[in-house]
Amino acid sequence: MASLRLGDEAPNFTADSSVGTINLYDYLGDSWGILFSHPADFTPVCTTELGTAAQFKDEFDKRNVKMIALSVDGAESHKEWIKDINEVQNTTVTFPIIADEDKKVSTLYDMIHPNADSSLTVRSVFIIGPDKKVKLTLTYPASTGRNFYELLRVIDSLQLTANHKVATPANWKNGEKVVVSPAIATSDAIKIFPKGVEEIKPYLRMTPDPTA
Ligand code: BEZ
Repeated sequence: MASLRLGDEAPNFTADSSVGTINLYDYLGDSWGILFSHPADFTPVCTTELGTAAQFKDEFDKRNVKMIALSVDGAESHKEWIKDINEVQNTTVTFPIIADEDKKVSTLYDMIHPNADSSLTVRSVFIIGPDKKVKLTLTYPASTGRNFYELLRVIDSLQLTANHKVATPANWKNGEKVVVSPAIATSDAIKIFPKGVEEIKPYLRMTPDPTA
């Protein structure tokens, strides 16, 4: 399976999970989605990641993003592990964890990188738009837990730039100034962005966040 690229359709699947059989497209409906893989159950970094994801549920909900995790262990194992996660992270995991024992989904999404580990998934992230297209991919090694503040930040950027002719600069955070899309002439930008356009260079124009 070739790697999924930005703009590709996120492959649909039906799989067993910690909450029973789940179909990705039915689960997502019209929402955004974040699908993230974990190397294995009952592992320390994954435990902190899933607990953090559960603690951030309100933030994902605010952005209309449904979470779905995956590891190649079975559903009964996931359910036992969730008890530990809830206990040690003082939270309640409610989103599904796919039980990908036959590696069907991890193969579909190219989550096993054999030169890193022959059988366990790496830490992949796929952000899926309401149009079911892949909007962002990230790949971390098993040894590095992901930054969930960064995942929320990138969702803010994806949702803003989906609706406005802007891009977000380095280290941008929600509410800060944004870059006017290079495709727009400054003379047009002034009309499109009534809050003002600052021309630093002809190709570098900033404007306040149009939604703030
Ligand atoms: C962990 O989640 O802690 C982990 C899993 C596989 C390899 C290394 C760390």
